[in-house]
Amino acid sequence: MKLKLLTIIAFSLTIHANAQQHNTSKDYTPPTDPLVQKKLVQWQTEKFGLLMHWGTYSEWGVVESWSICPEDEGWCERKGPYKDNYFEYVKAYENLQKTFNPTEFNPQKWADAAKNAGMKYVVFTTKHHDGFNMFDTKYSDYKVTDPKDPFSANPKANIAKEVFSAFRNDNFMIGAYYSKPDWHSNDYWWRYFPPSSRNPSYNPKKYPEKWEAYKQFVYNQIGELTSDYGSIDILWLDGGWVRPKSTIDTSVDWQKSIPYDQDIDMPKIATMARKNQPGLLFVDRTVSGEYENYVTPEQSIPAHYLPYPWESCMTLGNSWSYVPNDTYKSANKVIHILTEVVSKNGNLLLNIGPSRKGDWDPNAYSRLKEIGKWLDINGNAIYNSVGDSTIGAQGKFVFTNKANTVFAIYRADENENKLPNEISIQNLTGKKIKSVKLLGASSKLKWKQDANSLQIAISDKLNQNLPCKEAWSFEIDY
Ligand code: GLC
Repeated sequence: MKLKLLTIIAFSLTIHANAQQHNTSKDYTPPTDPLVQKKLVQWQTEKFGLLMHWGTYSEWGVVESWSICPEDEGWCERKGPYKDNYFEYVKAYENLQKTFNPTEFNPQKWADAAKNAGMKYVVFTTKHHDGFNMFDTKYSDYKVTDPKDPFSANPKANIAKEVFSAFRNDNFMIGAYYSKPDWHSNDYWWRYFPPSSRNPSYNPKKYPEKWEAYKQFVYNQIGELTSDYGSIDILWLDGGWVRPKSTIDTSVDWQKSIPYDQDIDMPKIATMARKNQPGLLFVDRTVSGEYENYVTPEQSIPAHYLPYPWESCMTLGNSWSYVPNDTYKSANKVIHILTEVVSKNGNLLLNIGPSRKGDWDPNAYSRLKEIGKWLDINGNAIYNSVGDSTIGAQGKFVFTNKANTVFAIYRADENENKLPNEISIQNLTGKKIKSVKLLGASSKLKWKQDANSLQIAISDKLNQNLPCKEAWSFEIDY
């Protein structure tokens, strides 16, 4: 069965400058493999994950990969001493391999901080578009474990492996971000032609043997990631312009400009990868069909509830990569994003970029700590819940559901420290309410239900002893 999306997806958050690459696909095709179905259900209960973009670009503290892409886009802008000569710039960029030495790398510290924040899964950049491998691939020497990289001598040099095992220790589901395009590979940006865009520097139809070699390389690398790195739950495939021409959606601007067919034979890759990792979730972003097991709006939240699995990926700062002095969203903001996403039936994948030395900005830790405190109290309204397609957001309230329970989450402004004395919630028609509680508070609430609404009285005493800040969740059992 194919669910045609009737919803016109308008986005309620501003789209970040470096985020034009992706938005949601038009169709969703539910998986038929029972193991994939099962994993997907598990993933949907988890709600909150961590994304990390890390690579040699963090040496300079610049945008991930895009500064070597010869497109005239804001997010591809080059800065610094080599900026006026593209080829010198790329040379200096690729030379970062020779200095990348993140001696503070301690993935268990990240895993523990993320766990305490209430995150349940992780997605890590094993390789971004620039082609630098954060894992010990056999198929390239542009990798952290190559002797050219000073970190190669470190016992934790196989970074992706270390990240995955630390998070697995803390019971996270494990996701490998992998870029389908590779701007270092001579079979993608073939040096015979200078690159002119994010696409291959040659027409794959005209040079089929080159393209075949590229397909084999991708197949081989995904083979490594799915066999040598322990159990992997999600293969998060970025770079949606690498796709069969027939899948291009011409109503989407960036897809319209894809010049070539770039079919890398996803069915073959998926058969192999799922043999290695039964039930593996495929996230072939924006390529709607059977290899996009969930949909991934970027830096945005869909306007409405969506009736299929989806995830918003968003940055905690403004950038996916570590950029010095980035501004981090407040815990209040992240909690409001998370509650809105969950109320619309999605997951939130929150990105933090590690620095060149291999740690996060202290602000990232403090935000996660506050978010974790909130989830300790309000987690019952979030995990294992489903979005709400009937009640609809009401003022500051968003809603989530479990069997015979509605959670009404009141999202407080940054400095709002009291609930209104009288609260009224509509659209609960047909639900005969048995009890109303405020999560984290022991005092009894006064409430009454009439034909159309539920009214809750909030005493001054309760307002002086609220269990948390940021948002308050009412558990309404019926
Ligand atoms: C945007 C960026 C890309 C990043 C991705 C994460 O598409 O251009 O670099 O990996 O977002 O969702």
